[in-house]
Amino acid sequence: MYSVIDQPKRTELHLDSITQLVTRFYFDVRADPLLGPAFETVLGSRWASHLPRRFAFWSTVMLGSRSFSGDVFAKHMVVPGVTARHFERWLQLWALHTQTLFDDPQARHLQKAASDITRNLYRGHSRNAAGFDVIALETRHVGR
Ligand code: HEM
Repeated sequence: MYSVIDQPKRTELHLDSITQLVTRFYFDVRADPLLGPAFETVLGSRWASHLPRRFAFWSTVMLGSRSFSGDVFAKHMVVPGVTARHFERWLQLWALHTQTLFDDPQARHLQKAASDITRNLYRGHSRNAAGFDVIALETRHVGR
């Protein structure tokens, strides 16, 4: 995992800080025993070449850059074996990295955006968003 010690917190969202966040986040996603295999099954050797699509996605969501185009929902509906635990872990790691790199207002902003998107993905997978609030609540303010 990336070190969280003595890092000055970012106060601004821009392409550079988003790129740093997404790079660190997916480094840990890839190494995670639960999430890693779920991504690996679909991405395999495409991991590195795929990363710029994540930068484009998050800069589109957070900065309105419009540099991303694609159907994120459809892509996730065909990832095999995804459960509520995967979404929970994804949000935990996102919370950890956002609060490590950014000051509180920016971290909350990033967490809210991810939570809204994840709710839709979760609903698509489980055909029911009822359990989602429990997941989101449990992943707030996580420690390492
Ligand atoms: C439950 C955990 C998750 C798993 C296992 C997962 C897995 C994947 C996989 C395998 C891909 C590659 C799809 C492909 O290229 O065919 C992908 C792409 C992507 N995921 Fe996830 N994902 C998860 C959660 C999320 C969440 C919560 C978000 C956003 C909040 C997200 C955002 C994206 C984006 C932006 C892409 C790129 C789509 C594209 O290239 O068109 N993922 N994900």
